[in-house]
Amino acid sequence: MSAATVYLVGAGPGAADLITLRGARALSRAQIVFADTLAGDELKALAPQARWVNVGKRCGGVSVAQSEICDALVEAANHYDKIVRLKGGDPMIFGRADEEIAALRAAGIAHEVVPGITTACAAAASLKVSFTSRGVRRSVSFATPSVGADLEKDQSWLNAVRGTDATALYMASHQREFLAKQMLDAGVALDKPVIAMQSVSTPNERRWVGTVGSLPTCPLQKEDGPILLLIGVPLTIEIPAAQFGTHSGNISSKIVKSLDVSIA
Ligand SMILES: C[S@@+](CC[C@H](N)C(=O)[O-])C[C@H]1O[C@@H](n2cnc3c(N)ncnc32)[C@H](O)[C@@H]1O
Repeated sequence: MSAATVYLVGAGPGAADLITLRGARALSRAQIVFADTLAGDELKALAPQARWVNVGKRCGGVSVAQSEICDALVEAANHYDKIVRLKGGDPMIFGRADEEIAALRAAGIAHEVVPGITTACAAAASLKVSFTSRGVRRSVSFATPSVGADLEKDQSWLNAVRGTDATALYMASHQREFLAKQMLDAGVALDKPVIAMQSVSTPNERRWVGTVGSLPTCPLQKEDGPILLLIGVPLTIEIPAAQFGTHSGNISSKIVKSLDVSIA
């Protein structure tokens, strides 16, 4: 049995200082790091001793096959003791961590998962808008309409949009017209707020503010950086007046504070 341990580390959404201390510690001990293309110089500086292997998109935009990554992790355990698999955001949110964990488990290789800040949480922090709001929004979902090439195959993401107050939609930067139509056909309100957030937490961060109805006009392009859609999160803070102590418990009375809105 191999003496190696593979650490699946969440790097956070982009800014190097959004990795956790535990993640940074795993990097500082790593002999080899398998990283997505997200890894910039600042993250690399956390593991200057390690051999860095890029398993993100290759030249031409083609991703390394997941099976190849799993094989590389298993093979690396024959040569190294401390192996880091660095993934964007949190490994357990649309990170295919389950496939890597299954491969490591099947090969009898010790492994640990180090959580990271998922993009949705960093986006909410950047906007300074909470997904949940006492008495206003009680549920939040992480969903994706992406099922490989064919969007029509699976529409379960619509249940997330309809069934929760706020939804963070990952891998939804393509076919916006189609996505808006699917939401409208499913009964989602035309004026439901939508915020598109691009390259969250990096110097290139941009945002677009609109609605389900205006989503097809969103100008952000995925070629310029990854995009997250927030559905049902308004750029206002609605706080029941009672919580400010200005009203004797009438929860329907709201103080609405406008926030700074910068449009891409
Ligand atoms: C394969 S998923 C990985 C998600 C990641 N595990 C996480 O927890 O954030 C990739 C998608 O995450 C979103 N994403 C990742 N980084 C982002 C960023 N910095 N800004 C906006 N969206 C981002 C985009 O929707 C992108 O298509």
